[in-house]
Parts: sequence; structure tokens; C-alpha cells
Amino acid sequence: MCGIVGYIGPRQAYPVVIKGLKRLEYRGYDSAGIALLNQQQLNVYKKKGKVADLEDSIVATSDLGGHIAIGHTRWATHGEPSDRNSHPHVSKSGQLAMIHNGIIENYAPIKEELLQKGYEFKSDTDTEVLLNFIEEIRVKNECSLEEALRIALKRIVGAYCILLVDVNDPDTILAARKGSPLVIGIGKDEHFLASDASPIIEYTKEVVYVNDYQIAIVKRDELVLKNLGNEKETPFITKLDMELAAIEKGGYDHFMLKEIHEQPATIADCLRGRLQVEHSHLKLAGVENNLDKLLAAKRFIMVACGTSWHAGLVAEYLIEELCRIPVEVEYASEFRYRNPIIEPGDVIIAISQSGETADTLVALENAKEKGAFIFGVVNSVGSSIARLSHAGAYTHSGPEIGVASTKAFTGQLAVLTMMALKIAQAKGTIDEARFDQLLGELAAVPDKVAAILKDSSNIERIAAKYKDASDFLFLGRGYNFPVALEGALKLKEISYIHAEGYPAAEMKHGPIALVDEHLPVVFVATRDRFYEKIVSNVQEIKARKGKVICIASEGDRVIPGMADDTIFVPDADELIGPMISVVPLQLLSYFVGVLKGYDVDKPRNLAKSVTVE
Ligand code: F6R
Repeated sequence: MCGIVGYIGPRQAYPVVIKGLKRLEYRGYDSAGIALLNQQQLNVYKKKGKVADLEDSIVATSDLGGHIAIGHTRWATHGEPSDRNSHPHVSKSGQLAMIHNGIIENYAPIKEELLQKGYEFKSDTDTEVLLNFIEEIRVKNECSLEEALRIALKRIVGAYCILLVDVNDPDTILAARKGSPLVIGIGKDEHFLASDASPIIEYTKEVVYVNDYQIAIVKRDELVLKNLGNEKETPFITKLDMELAAIEKGGYDHFMLKEIHEQPATIADCLRGRLQVEHSHLKLAGVENNLDKLLAAKRFIMVACGTSWHAGLVAEYLIEELCRIPVEVEYASEFRYRNPIIEPGDVIIAISQSGETADTLVALENAKEKGAFIFGVVNSVGSSIARLSHAGAYTHSGPEIGVASTKAFTGQLAVLTMMALKIAQAKGTIDEARFDQLLGELAAVPDKVAAILKDSSNIERIAAKYKDASDFLFLGRGYNFPVALEGALKLKEISYIHAEGYPAAEMKHGPIALVDEHLPVVFVATRDRFYEKIVSNVQEIKARKGKVICIASEGDRVIPGMADDTIFVPDADELIGPMISVVPLQLLSYFVGVLKGYDVDKPRNLAKSVTVE
């Protein structure tokens, strides 16, 4: 939610910040803005729309000079997307400019306080309230801006990452975070600030991840971190393990398509060094080092949102089947508020691509406080959830930029499968032959996914045939039920077509009433223990004139005789199947979205990293 970028150093700040904002646009794209400090002149440009609209709106005569700037790309929370609600906001005196990612929950009483003191607000945002609150404290207490910021932050409730500049101190950016991410890149006599490392990687690989409740005082040649008690804290410098190419489109029309096609490589990266088929061995340090806690657990609780929650559902099936440990799968947003029973010894498995999802993060903080052991399955290295977890395993899927999650999902499934196998082996709930067979099946996944991606013309044809449908139903049983849910989620996100996912057998309990000759029904009907049953479900839809699209196993001769359209996928063990059968569904939604003329990398109303609740 919202991307923020800042620069201070010898370069012209404008191009650095604009380029950075484009890299962060996946985090929000309602409006964008930039504040430049040129000596003691503050120039603010902002515009509703994408970063390109901001650039277009800046005329040739605009003053783009200055070596210090802050920029923002917005996903609206308080106030509709508009020029006036865009960040940066400028304080009443005109001396301070600020950008903010997050939500100030108690902004209303603070605003009231300021209104009574004669403040007027140009926007509907909580950010403008916080900014003027800081200014008011500075004036009233006759203190430094840093001190005023500290006092303000102690008063506010909510999440924030803010960058703040002052015309009277054109050599400093003040930054602070709680709940919303902030990375600071360290160059030679320069610093880069951003919501994630993607705007920074081009310039430096040395970064500091700022922690909650830290304030950063950033100058060209100095970075000071302090806590809210005004005590200095040592910045911990991390080396980024990421290449620039990973965050560029690399010849593909969209990030989403690139990321779908990267899956053979990203799944292989995830398995590399961990899966040792020839030695009948799995190496998963996070699990190995914590087997005592994992084996002692009475239950596992999966906590996640969206696509990651779907990965959690697959994991429920896997872990219950292989490890015989009860599993609950929770939407983080519900879990954090419903006073769940969590006891010391409970194991929470947190699943998150970004590692920054606010609901997941807070749910974990609550569970950690109650003594649960947190195991993170996270993609984004160094992210808040990764750092909060007691242990974990990265998915190693590389930066995922397309707003719709694709390669992160298959990476999560790969890690969760390895985890289930490793625990089952340690617990003795899997025999050697089955363990070896599933290792072999896992190793074969990258090639099987590559085989699907080799020729997607059939999927594109099917997308063209059904793209004008107003609704879709996605059905699956067993391990393919979460895949059906994921297929429906992808389609609605990218193509804005109403889609629902259901367990195929549930259809008779309601959704079947929707079926008529206009409704495309996608069955994930690969060969598994439910195959005969799902064949019957297909018949039931056909009998009601629904249009049936089936994902079927190669060599299946029954399904193509019944379905209107069939997409074949390589055969796989049902436990491993979701990593394969989800790929055609990702492509189907991609093609429908593109054929309908939508911006699939930036679907409306969405943002990649949901750092507000
Ligand atoms: C769907 C999608 C979202 C995310 C969800 C959780 O394509 O991207 O549903 O899966 O917002 O995000 P993470 O995994 O970053 O916690």
C-alpha cells in the first residue's frame, strides 16, 4: 500500500525518485507526487493517476533541481484519489513536506484539536493532519523537528512509514516507521530511502532495514537511527541478494506474464540445495533446527491472506495427510480480531509473499506475545514477517512485481510440501518409499511447468472464447479445491469478471442454481483419488447446459469427450499437483485480462503489498 522513495546525495534527485516510484508502482497507483528541495526552495508536484501522469503534468519550465527529494505513489485510504489528496503534503507554514504509507487511526481527534487552533486542511488525508500536528508541536515546544516528530509519533495510533523534509534544513531527510516497511540504501555520500529495495538495487547493495519505532536522520554522508526514547541504535547493514534484471520486464509485455514464465526457474531455485533426491534427503534448516517445537505441537495454525491463504489450504491437506498433525487455516484479518485460543507450544505458520501484509503481521505479533512459535514462509528477504518469525524458510521466488501473485504461490507450495515431508519423516508418519517417490515428484515440477508454458495458444484461444462471460465458476476436489479458489481469485483480480471457487461437491448445495448455458465452469479435474467423482460433477454441469472447461491430466480420454474445452497438464501425484494445475489458470486469467484491454500488472483498486488493515 503506497510506495515511498527518498534521495539525498550528489545526484539530481528528481530522476532517481521518479524511477524509484515507477518500480514501486505495484504498491499503489491512484496518484503520485514528489517534493524537491532546491537550496531553501520547496517544489511540490503531484497528480492523480500513475507516475507517468505525474511526469506528463510536469512542464518544461518546472524547477526540477535539487539533490534531495521525497516521492510517493498512492493507494488511497483517507480521501479519494485526487490531486489534492496526493502526497507529498505541505504543512501550514509551507516549510515542511511529508509523505506517508499507512493509516493514522486516531487522526480525527488530532484534526479536531488542530482545527480549533485555526489550522485549515487542503486535503482529506490523515497524513496532512499528522504533518501539521508535528509542526504544531515544534512551534509550541520550540524544539527541533526531530524532537517534534518523536513527540508526535508517541501520540499517534496506527501504521506509518513517513519521510519528512524541512526547507530550513535542506541537508536532512527524517524518516520513521511502524508497521509499514522502510529500507535505506547506503551509497558513497548518498542515501536512498524506499518501501522496498527495488528502487535502490541499481545504486547500491548495502541496505539497512529500519525497524518499527525507529527514527532515521538521513544526511548525505551520515545515517543515524534512534528509538523513540532518543537513544541511538546501531544500523545493521545487510547485503542485498538481488539483481536489477529481476525487477525488470525482460522482454515480456507484463510482469505477470514474466513471473508466470519464471516459475520453472523459481521453483527450481526454491528446491535447490534443499531437495537431494539421489540421497533421499531434504535439507530445510528452519525445520531441522526446530523439530522439537514442531513435533511437540498439538496443532499448526496457518495464518495468511489472499493467495497465500490458498497456499495455506493446500498445506492443511498436506500436513494432515503426511504428518497427522491437525491444521487450522486462518484469514489473518479474522484471526487477529477474534480472540483466538493460542497457547504456548502452538505453531503458527505465517505465509506471505511480501512479508509486510499488515493483517498477517499483527496477527503474528499477537500470537507471539501469547507464546506461539512462529514459522515464516516468506518470499521477501528481510521483510517484517521474516524478521518477526522465530524460524522459517524463504520461498526464493525473486521479486514479484505483478500485483496478482503467481510465482510466489508455487514457491509457497514448494516450501510447504518440503516442510510437510521433512516433519513427516522425522515423525515417522511416512514410509521411505513414499518419501522418495514424493521427492522425485517434487524434482520433476519445474520441467512439468515448463511443458505447460511451452505452448499457451490453447489457453489463449479459450480465454478469447469466454472473455465476455459475466461470471465464472471454478470447481475442484481435494488438493484441487484450493487451486479452484486460486483460479477464481486470479480471474476476478485481473479481468474484473465475477468468479467463485467451490469444492466441486458443494456445488449441489447452492451454486448449481447459477448454471445455465452462459456460465463457464472451470473444473480442475486432474487424475487423483476423486477423479471419478469429479467426472460425475462435470456431467451434472453439462446436464444443465453449463460450458465446461477442464484442466485434465495428459492422456485422459474421458474428460475431453465431455468438456467443451480441455487444457492438458502433465500427470503428477495429487499432493504435488497444485503447483502444476494452477499454472494454466494463471495464464487463463492473464489472457482474459489482456484481451479485455486491462492493465493486468496494475488491476484497479488493488495494490501489491497490503500494509493497511
Ligand atoms: C492475489 C494477491 C493477494 C495476496 C495477499 C497476501 O493475487 O496477490 O491476495 O496474496 O494480499 O499478500 P502477501 O502474500 O504478500 O502477504
